[in-house]
Amino acid sequence: MDLKLPEDFLWGTATSAFQIEMGMGEVDVNSDWYVWVHDEDNIRNGIVSGDLPENGPGFWELYPSDLRLAKEELRNNAFRMSIDWSRIFPEPTWDVPVRVHYDSDGNIREVDVTEESIRLLDERAYKPSVRRYREILSECRNLGLTVLLTLYHWPLPLWIHDPIACRDDISHSNRRGWLDQRTIIEFAKYSAFIAKTFGDLVDIYATMNEPMVVSGAGYFSEKSGFPPGINDLNLFVKVTKNLALAHGIAYEQIKRWDENSCSKWGPAYVGIVHNPQYFEAYNADSREDVIAAEFLAYLQNEWFLNMIVRGDFDMNLDMRVDPSEQRPSLAGRCDFIGVNYYMRIRVKGAESRIPGIPGYETIPCRENCTDMGWEIYPEGIRYELNWAYRLYRRPVMVTENGIADAKDEKRSEFLRAHISEVEKAINDGVPVEGYFYWSLIDNFEWAKGFKMRFGLFRVDYETKRRIPTKAVKVYRQIIEGLKSFSL
Ligand code: FCB
Repeated sequence: MDLKLPEDFLWGTATSAFQIEMGMGEVDVNSDWYVWVHDEDNIRNGIVSGDLPENGPGFWELYPSDLRLAKEELRNNAFRMSIDWSRIFPEPTWDVPVRVHYDSDGNIREVDVTEESIRLLDERAYKPSVRRYREILSECRNLGLTVLLTLYHWPLPLWIHDPIACRDDISHSNRRGWLDQRTIIEFAKYSAFIAKTFGDLVDIYATMNEPMVVSGAGYFSEKSGFPPGINDLNLFVKVTKNLALAHGIAYEQIKRWDENSCSKWGPAYVGIVHNPQYFEAYNADSREDVIAAEFLAYLQNEWFLNMIVRGDFDMNLDMRVDPSEQRPSLAGRCDFIGVNYYMRIRVKGAESRIPGIPGYETIPCRENCTDMGWEIYPEGIRYELNWAYRLYRRPVMVTENGIADAKDEKRSEFLRAHISEVEKAINDGVPVEGYFYWSLIDNFEWAKGFKMRFGLFRVDYETKRRIPTKAVKVYRQIIEGLKSFSL
């Protein structure tokens, strides 16, 4: 197959701050996720694993050698990382003044962050963290790694979200995270500050990672292990909408405050990292199964992107957009779509428990499963890339794709098979701008802890040693062999 990749196609690995940083150096105790995974009730009830992020890989100190692995062992030219909001602002920024504009329905439409607001934010920012993130980003640049920076990869500062109080009694908690519109305003300040402070080192931004997981796992499923562990359709809809508004407002802030270009992408190329899932009807001849799979594909894959790209806010989830649900002023705030792809999900129809919403159940993986119990299905990545581009007409990037495989038996083939499908998507005419494998090193897999090993490099958590898996060589060879790229 003759593959025409742009010279600057991004080959990288993806990481997130909370999952890799702790383990050496300063521990960040100021986020909702930190409190959530330490909570004794959560541990006792098996909601979280009991593993603790402070025993993690220690990227906070070991970043120079980790980044060299990416550059020298993998021959990568890009790196996806995130900044944790609570590391930069461990204390509240509520009182930093900004002007907020609302639309006629009371939705936040615009936030004016001024030079003076930035100055005050700078006074509040925790300087050792600002310095350390600058060092990490500068090291990436020295090594020739283009950075894709995620602003929000799940932990919220505790002063914004108290996950235990919300879990126990949502109506009485006053730190309600994304349920509270004020979080959007604080996110605008944080985004402006990040763009201003790190803009000379970063050109590609994702405002947030997998918003549908934040809202779905947090508010529409009790057993997911995600904070605050609530199951309430109305809250889920509200949080999803607030995330969409927050994305759009952060998009504007980054465009406004990052004035520096450090690559051909610059100064600010801003997108979303989304996780469209490949849903398939368990029985293609069953009308219920087909309807259930179509509904889930709409809910998980389209609903949020329709909001941020088209300004279509289908708040009653009837899969139609009435004129009253259109917000044209919020449309178009997305330069690229990041696609995280992991698996196929088979769906069966079931009795509906919520009026107007088809009932569904997902079938556990039986064959070709990863340690997470996710079904390996490489063809799905080609489908999702085509889908995202054809529906939204934006360039796409694979911002995550990977496998939990502690025995190191399936990773090499997984990587090869998925990149081969990315190649097919490119040949289908989809402008794919990069591929980021999840992840560079093993890390703290949220509620599941350290047992899930996604790293191209295995981490010995006792000694913090990094040990290459077989897939290191495979990934390097794919990248080096690009000229005669054929899998
Ligand atoms: C994705 C998350 C990432 C990691 C992988 C395995 O949903 O974005 O942080 O946990 O799954």
